[in-house]
Amino acid sequence: MASALESIVQAIEAGAGKQEIEALPLPATFRAVTTHKDEQKMFEGIPSSEKDPRKSLHIDDVPVPELGPGEAIIAVMASAVNFNTVWTSIFEPISTFAFLERNGKRSALWKRHDLPYHIVGSDASGVVLRVGPGVSKWKPGDRVVVHCNYVDLEEPEGHDDAMMDPAQTIWGFETNFGGMAELCLVKSNQIMPKPEHLTWEEAACSGLVNSTAYRQLVSKHGAGMKMGDVVLIWGASGGLGGYATQYAVRGGAIPVGVVSSAHRAGIVRKLGCPAVIDRKAEGYRFWNGNQMDMKEMRRFGAKIRELTGGEDPDIVYEHPGRETFAASVFVARRGGTIVTCASTSGYEHVYDNRYLWMNLKRIVGSHFANYREAWEANRLICKGLIHPTLSQCFPLESSGEAALQVHKNLHDGKVGVLCLAPKEGLGVRDRELREKHLPAIELYRS
Ligand SMILES: NC(=O)c1ccc[n+]([C@@H]2O[C@H](COP(=O)([O-])OP(=O)(O)OC[C@H]3O[C@@H](n4cnc5c(N)ncnc54)[C@H](OP(=O)(O)O)[C@@H]3O)[C@@H](O)[C@H]2O)c1
Repeated sequence: MASALESIVQAIEAGAGKQEIEALPLPATFRAVTTHKDEQKMFEGIPSSEKDPRKSLHIDDVPVPELGPGEAIIAVMASAVNFNTVWTSIFEPISTFAFLERNGKRSALWKRHDLPYHIVGSDASGVVLRVGPGVSKWKPGDRVVVHCNYVDLEEPEGHDDAMMDPAQTIWGFETNFGGMAELCLVKSNQIMPKPEHLTWEEAACSGLVNSTAYRQLVSKHGAGMKMGDVVLIWGASGGLGGYATQYAVRGGAIPVGVVSSAHRAGIVRKLGCPAVIDRKAEGYRFWNGNQMDMKEMRRFGAKIRELTGGEDPDIVYEHPGRETFAASVFVARRGGTIVTCASTSGYEHVYDNRYLWMNLKRIVGSHFANYREAWEANRLICKGLIHPTLSQCFPLESSGEAALQVHKNLHDGKVGVLCLAPKEGLGVRDRELREKHLPAIELYRS
């Protein structure tokens, strides 16, 4: 006899609707990718680069969480690795169990998240199985993707922009029951329609990075990019950068992409950005130990001008942090914007402030996206205007290996994880739209 989860997958593949899905029992347990609280000190004293996610990410059978008001349980067909999965798996900059403990004190519903294991993952595509009291927008059987802004909106500050809510958190990073699992628990205001021209794994890979890139580059809350802006994009083929590059190209801006190999330069050109800098081939060294090298920054600025007909960036799309931030501030044009959402190479930034204030530049902080921004970013995917950047996909059991690829900067674009989907290539309904955009959808796979 088929298990409860096998019956659910069969029903999803057969296109079951609300009543059939509701009639199927939920399993008592499900498989999930977890870190363990009793291992949170396992990498102490080891350099970051040597911390191995394959050692800290486990596959566990865990009980199905209690469904609360305003929530939904989703059958996860596919998920994706984000850099926050890497941070969680190497317990940096702090162990995410600190978030679970702190948030667990908020209420009885939050207490559910404070467990000795943390189910990771901030992306998912799948099908709604159950909705809690008060949910009317979504129903069992809906085919969906999930964004990771997890917010109760009880505070007044969040009601202009949910990212301003002091209690805002990121699902699957600061909460439990994330997307790298067979089932996940979300708030109904995290749910968005699945782009129906995409497979489960293609649909799952965009939510976090696409929404972040949209807010950071396009939204009025970020850099507010406009037609003709010169946009310098670090990591232009990477998780965030692959979407930022698409926004710059499609929004009529003039992108300059920075990458670290000829192969990645090729990807960025195929995305429609002819101006590419291979930072490795050029051998930039902005730092000599703790000393900034202004000559190197000038050389970098001259390279950008060479590619733009003498113009400096209106916007610098920042996330590498410590190693690049001083150069980003230096090369931005007078009055330009450095918009940052991360510090992969270190969060203590040093830069020469004279280049900022004397040239009236501004630094803008950006973090994920509110529901509206995530929805707009997903809408562009649904319409075939922005495309997923999936390069490879791993089975759930190999999530540690998938996270290692991202940790070591060996991957291109996004790395997917199959959860309940039995194989890649399933879940497409709109074949006409897919055919129309197939080369762009599969660009990272070729
Ligand atoms: N605040 C938020 O909401 C938010 C959302 C998403 C991600 N993030 C953070 O943003 C960062 C990037 O995430 P991602 O998903 O884009 O990661 P990713 O897929 O690893 O891509 C980052 C790219 O940055 C480039 N890079 C890495 N280290 C660099 C360095 N030292 N100097 C110059 N370039 C460097 C690499 O490209 P090349 O080697 O080809 O140059 C890499 O492909 C992570 O720290 C992540 O946690 C924050």
